[in-house]
Amino acid sequence: MDIFEAMETCRSIRRMRPDPVPDEVLEKLVHYATRAPSAGNTQLWRFLVVTDQRDRTWFRDMLVDAVGPRLATIPAEDDHSDAARNARRYRRFIFEFDKIPAFIITAVENAFPSKENPDPQFMWSTVYAATQNLLLAARAMGLGAAMTTNHLENEPAVRQHFGIPEDFALGATIPLGYPEGRYGPLTRRPAGEVIFRDRWGNTAA
Ligand SMILES: Cc1cc2nc3c(=O)[nH]c(=O)nc-3n(C[C@H](O)[C@H](O)[C@H](O)COP(=O)(O)O)c2cc1C
Repeated sequence: MDIFEAMETCRSIRRMRPDPVPDEVLEKLVHYATRAPSAGNTQLWRFLVVTDQRDRTWFRDMLVDAVGPRLATIPAEDDHSDAARNARRYRRFIFEFDKIPAFIITAVENAFPSKENPDPQFMWSTVYAATQNLLLAARAMGLGAAMTTNHLENEPAVRQHFGIPEDFALGATIPLGYPEGRYGPLTRRPAGEVIFRDRWGNTAA
């Protein structure tokens, strides 16, 4: 697959088959994540790879406790609207998160330009460049993945459970597995709608 096809079809995949993802595949994903640029090439990122069933179940329980009440209304099975289908899918994603065979939390040390006087802009731009690389690598390797911020549902508990120190910020929680469904196509605005030429607001080509 060329890079353009990967970018055109890199949708969020939230339904995975339970088959495990081999360790070498997960390590390859992290390898490609770490090919990303970083502020001053400091590479302050870290990647927490989670596959143990007990940790996946713990994460599911954390999500259900935090998000469950917001998902209390279950759409009727005969409601085939997009909203109902999406709500059912999202509910399944949360309530069956433990069945997804792996997830990776991308993290970055808040230490650029220095540990003593860090500017958080740099850590965010660094961790999300690596995160997007990881998502594209997953797509190219036939894995389903999604950029999520699920850890934010209860970040203190996530930090405590996995032993993540306070000087590292959490970028994304990326569920990973072989997809149940299909990828893409993306629903995105055409580039022409978001381009300005030479001056802000000038849409003339
Ligand atoms: C900053 C950010 C936070 C996101 N957080 C979540 C999340 O917590 N849960 C989730 O399921 N998806 C999350 N997403 C994924 C978006 O919902 C998804 O990329 C968007 O709806 C476009 O859908 P697509 O990727 O399938 O094309 C997040 C995406 C971004 C960029």
